[in-house]
Amino acid sequence: MAYDVVVIGAGPGGYTAAIRMGQLGLRVALVEERDLGGVCLNWGCIPTKALYSATKLIERVQDAAGMGLSFAAPKIDLERLAAWKSEVVSKLVDGVSSLLEANDVDVIAARGALAGTGRVSLSTGETVEAQAIVLAAGSVPVEIPGFSFEDDGLWTSTDALELLEIPERLLVVGGGVIGLELASIYNRLGSAVSVLEMMPEILPGIDLDRRTIVTLKRALTAQGITLRLGAAAQSHETTSDGIVVKTRGDADPITADRVLVAVGRRPHSADLNLGKVGIEPDRRGFIAVDASLQTTAEGIYAIGDLTDGPMLAHRASAQGIRVAEHIAAELGKDAPAAEGDAREMIIPQAIFTDPEVASVGLSEARAKKEGIDAVVGRFSYAALGKALAMREPQGFFQVVAERDSGRLLGAQVVGAEASNLIAEAAVAVAQGLTLSAIAETVHAHPTLPEGLKEAAENALGR
Ligand code: NAI
Repeated sequence: MAYDVVVIGAGPGGYTAAIRMGQLGLRVALVEERDLGGVCLNWGCIPTKALYSATKLIERVQDAAGMGLSFAAPKIDLERLAAWKSEVVSKLVDGVSSLLEANDVDVIAARGALAGTGRVSLSTGETVEAQAIVLAAGSVPVEIPGFSFEDDGLWTSTDALELLEIPERLLVVGGGVIGLELASIYNRLGSAVSVLEMMPEILPGIDLDRRTIVTLKRALTAQGITLRLGAAAQSHETTSDGIVVKTRGDADPITADRVLVAVGRRPHSADLNLGKVGIEPDRRGFIAVDASLQTTAEGIYAIGDLTDGPMLAHRASAQGIRVAEHIAAELGKDAPAAEGDAREMIIPQAIFTDPEVASVGLSEARAKKEGIDAVVGRFSYAALGKALAMREPQGFFQVVAERDSGRLLGAQVVGAEASNLIAEAAVAVAQGLTLSAIAETVHAHPTLPEGLKEAAENALGR
């Protein structure tokens, strides 16, 4: 079989690249051994957000008494909730499948690996040939010594999302993004949740300012989640009372009914047979790419979690588009010319805890570290009419800008709908807009985005 391009991996990076290349008139094969949509659609972003929104409702109902509305305690039909979550996933997977079909992409159900320049070997025994290859195999969860995913009672995020039970006591190992999102979901479902984080603070891997972390920590604790920081999980044993987890740096062992291990992910690069074409991943497994996302091997590209940077679906799909247009142009198709280094795109991040946390660009601390003369502005949710009317007074908006030019360098939002609100700041940072551009744009009243405008006004000393 011969194609213009073969893509290995049908996650948000791979399927987006394949669809775009199909649109641009290339003959594309997409090799995927599991389900279309990858981790994000099937076992990550989407099912988590379905459960996030469902359990947010529980919390809203419980809080409604303050507005004079009382409801009976919510009854949770776990089977129905799991089925609804799966319906959301299926709809999206079907959508991806239709788009691939509509753009004449051949989906090959197999595991793919490199067999040489322009050659991909399939687990079915066949080989496909192409002028270009895109590696988009994503990432897999990291295991830590003493906690094998095969062990009884231990959960990966995929197990937790299956929603087979609500454990009475859930211990989450890892106070990163997955740990905190799932801790919040199970806490709302009624589990007594503790989080073990080996670093002194939660979310140590993300560029967030102290004030943001403190606001989130205070809220999580108020919701009844126990945070044990500076405590690394070391070993576990099953006793008649449950699973006992011993830690380093924190004297008391913790007993739980289920232990969710979410200690990071690593690039899924080991099975790609990279050595065949001379690609050497770094110590952590990341594949080096140039500004067009080409690896050290000519005609072989890598995108998404396989490359160094935040492991986020939207980074992968943005790179998928970039690589697709680059390859199409290389192969003589009429494709829009991409500008700039594809490794340096501005990537916002949203964390679905309560309150939500979202950020883009530089934090105040990072700007200072880089020696930038920066000005900071903030505005509190408690002073926003819309936030009060929503009964969501927690949190704040923050902007960081270059003092002289006023150019926005970064923003953080912690509070209701932060994940949606960060988009405006992302446009501003990515397009080089200034504080004045935000402050002088009329924002509808009463709405939450007014908070960003007010933070910009604050930074301008108004
Ligand atoms: P992570 O890197 O965010 O967090 C893992 C945490 O585990 C770290 O804070 C680390 O210090 C801690 N840890 C490691 N070993 C430990 C031990 N023995 N005991 C206690 N703590 C330990 O990784 P996570 O949460 O697994 O997520 C993986 C990736 O998925 C992340 O890169 C994230 O960007 C992405 N993701 C993003 C989401 C979003 O943007 N909303 C949602 C879920 C995942």
